[in-house]
Amino acid sequence: MAILPIIALDFSNKQEADSFLDRFQEEKLFVKIGMELFYQNGPDIVWDIKEKGHQIFLDLKLHDIPNTVKQAMKGLASLGADMVNVHAVGGRNMMAGALEGLDAGTPSGAKRPLCIAVTQLTSTTEEQMNTEQLIQVPLEEAVLSYAKLAHEAGLDGVVCSSHEVRRIHEQLGNDFLTVTPGIRNSGDEAHDQKRIASPEKARLLGTNAIVVGRSITKAKDPFKAYREIKTAWEGIKA
Ligand code: C5P
Repeated sequence: MAILPIIALDFSNKQEADSFLDRFQEEKLFVKIGMELFYQNGPDIVWDIKEKGHQIFLDLKLHDIPNTVKQAMKGLASLGADMVNVHAVGGRNMMAGALEGLDAGTPSGAKRPLCIAVTQLTSTTEEQMNTEQLIQVPLEEAVLSYAKLAHEAGLDGVVCSSHEVRRIHEQLGNDFLTVTPGIRNSGDEAHDQKRIASPEKARLLGTNAIVVGRSITKAKDPFKAYREIKTAWEGIKA
């Protein structure tokens, strides 16, 4: 499995994120930096973590007019993140603009960051989607439709729950990445996540990458929790 479990660095400040990363010593990780850390620390947080040798999913979920997203992505591409994202609801032109910006901003010789789309946030219920967004189809259909749009725009994949992975791969092929949060070991608290799966289940369903937050960051021993999840995800008998 090429993509390591992605650890969501959901910390309120850089000091907490740094002391969490210090526990991993020489282990090279794939971490997710979200709005909370990025808006407080700016590009420095990306540079600092890259310097430690980790891969980065910069989860800023861009959604604006195509030209603004294109220019913003041009700037983000120069930071050295390995993966970035947009909201699929921004539309095909906006997603194509994101890719153009990334291509233009990636330093020569470097690899363009993977660009994936958020379909429906996992915090959105079907009822909310029906009544607030006026989308009158089942949630899974809406997710699939956004995934098709992202695929048509040339994106590398989508964020979705592990329960939608099979249909997305059936329709759009196995190379179209599915990145899934809501990962819990049996016995772990679900917290606010509704559609959860264990790392083994996610792998069996064909998920390409898992995003894990609290099961690692709030564990008594985060290093041990990470190793267990990584072993389960990679399918290696401990
Ligand atoms: O702690 P937990 O494992 O639930 O963290 C999941 C991470 O994935 C969080 O950073 C959350 O913001 C993110 N995420 C999500 N659902 C999405 C997109 C991102 O849970 N649809």
